[in-house]
Amino acid sequence: MTVDVSKPTAEIQPTMYGIFFEDINFGADGGLYAELVKNRSFEFPQPFVGWVPFGNVSVQSEKPCFERNPHYVRVVNDGRLLRAGLDNEGFTGIGLKEGEEYRFSVYARTPDAAPMKLSVELVRKDGSNPLKKTVEVKGNEWQKQTVILKSPFTDAHARLRIVLETKGTVDMDHISLFPVKTWKGRENGLRADLAQALYDLNPGVLRFPGGCIIEGNSLATRYQWKKSVGPVENRPLNENRWNYTFKHKAFPDYFQSLGLGFYEYFLLSEDIGAEPLPVVSCGLSCQYESNEVVPLDELDPYVQDALDLIEFANGDVNSTWGKVRAEMGHPAPFNLKMIAVGNEQWDKVYVERLEVFTKAIRGKYPDIKVIGSSGPSASGDKFDYLWPEMKRVGVDLVDEHYYMKPEWFLENAKRYDSYDRKGPKVFAGEYAAHDYPTGKANNLYAALSEAAFMTGLERNADVVHLATYAPLFAHVDAWQWNPDLIWFDNLRMMRTPNYYVQQMYGMNAGTDVLRLQMNGEPVAGQDSLYATAALDAPTGEVILKLVNVGSKPADVKINFNGLKKHRIVSGTCTYLQNDDWKAVNTLEQEKLVPRVRPVQVEGQSLELQLPERSFGVYRLQM
Ligand code: AHR
Repeated sequence: MTVDVSKPTAEIQPTMYGIFFEDINFGADGGLYAELVKNRSFEFPQPFVGWVPFGNVSVQSEKPCFERNPHYVRVVNDGRLLRAGLDNEGFTGIGLKEGEEYRFSVYARTPDAAPMKLSVELVRKDGSNPLKKTVEVKGNEWQKQTVILKSPFTDAHARLRIVLETKGTVDMDHISLFPVKTWKGRENGLRADLAQALYDLNPGVLRFPGGCIIEGNSLATRYQWKKSVGPVENRPLNENRWNYTFKHKAFPDYFQSLGLGFYEYFLLSEDIGAEPLPVVSCGLSCQYESNEVVPLDELDPYVQDALDLIEFANGDVNSTWGKVRAEMGHPAPFNLKMIAVGNEQWDKVYVERLEVFTKAIRGKYPDIKVIGSSGPSASGDKFDYLWPEMKRVGVDLVDEHYYMKPEWFLENAKRYDSYDRKGPKVFAGEYAAHDYPTGKANNLYAALSEAAFMTGLERNADVVHLATYAPLFAHVDAWQWNPDLIWFDNLRMMRTPNYYVQQMYGMNAGTDVLRLQMNGEPVAGQDSLYATAALDAPTGEVILKLVNVGSKPADVKINFNGLKKHRIVSGTCTYLQNDDWKAVNTLEQEKLVPRVRPVQVEGQSLELQLPERSFGVYRLQM
């Protein structure tokens, strides 16, 4: 192989390797969003979902605490019943860790105005309840009460119990329990371990909130960002697109509290150093579900939502939506640079609507990049007409999705070599290798096929500007889709080998592509090898990414043309390797993790033996 270090061929965008977050597989409520109470506002269609009431407990809506979440519970202890109160089961249990603190809060009032005592208890799976704290409620106006509970035990399937200890009546709403230690210690925050895993990917972009989520099972249940900002208690519940009751009969309890809303998504982007990339509804509901279409002459409110979103992110504090952002705690703009319109919509009705959005966004915000969708273009010719249409409409990027077999990824490492250089750029917005014979496992084979494919993304960095694996998260006890990048339960999480591939790219993106060839060709499958080379201008390092999907080690000699100092000084190799194609990580053990070793330096060239079934990232100081 030869690497020409004298003349980079293309710039690698800092946004190149990113993440795509969608509330699927209980990725938000029950996952990244650290709230431990399910249905905290009693707004599910069956208001006791998640709760086990005991004694005299009813759901009311008169004189509510929150206008957009009007239901609350009334608990009555008339002295005859032994107990009155309710348990919350969390999301397949509440995960508590011994010695950790949890913030319990409730909005409560006593309709009779007499002071009442509630006991707040952490209950083990076996029913024992070693921790109780008392909360006093006084007066018939709604008031927030907060108490910190230090858990004396560890249990992935604990419960929260609230008991009315005194005779009388108490109304309660927005009953919440959060770990005190959230990501960056924020109230209404994120699960620290899961957010840390995102930060550790060093992502260049964060696409949110979907996916199909943005489209909704129906237009009425599409994701509406305006409902997801402002005080968290007053954000209305929305049916999750992955609540399958519409056509299937699964996950009827999947709703979005919107506690993780657009403000939190922007904040997360900022925290992890990723460019925010929100997706808005284009006026079409999910094509796999109701497939509703907003007539063109009724599209204005949808377009206005997109324009207002840009104002929410970037407007000054005196603008209508900039003021909302400032009041939420972020007067500085979020510096939004791009917005995507629609998701996996590919009929002509989509193009007509995209055109309206693009004109309106360009008219008001000419610097904002607009991203269109080509649908799952890997599925074949059906979508071929979309690229010329995207070019005609003049979008900046096109979002392509492909959930395909590992072999497809290997065969498509040259996919972008022949893409039009004069049209919109590519956003590989959703992709993952689905290894069907192993039940679409997150195994080494899938991960290495993705690593091989990504050499083609990097080689074509002049046309591919963003790439995000999908989906990101899955709860081991409640998922609809696999494979996924990160799996978790109520206490632990596991990074898949696919995660480590993404991390190895994200941490070693480099700034410019260098020409790397074998016998005058890009290295894209010859002898089971895939490779790409980049320069990292700030450090002066050359970064090689080498994938061997063969079952034998490969001896490789790499010559460097155009070396200034005529020799390589030092180097390291970060590599992922295993002898078993089917190897996976588990919550108990991550056996597939990248390891680092020094690289032997040979002057002007590098002789390496690439282990079988491996992906290696070589950073070489020249
Ligand atoms: O990532 C899961 C789903 O796959 C996304 O919501 C959708 O865009 C695609 O069909």
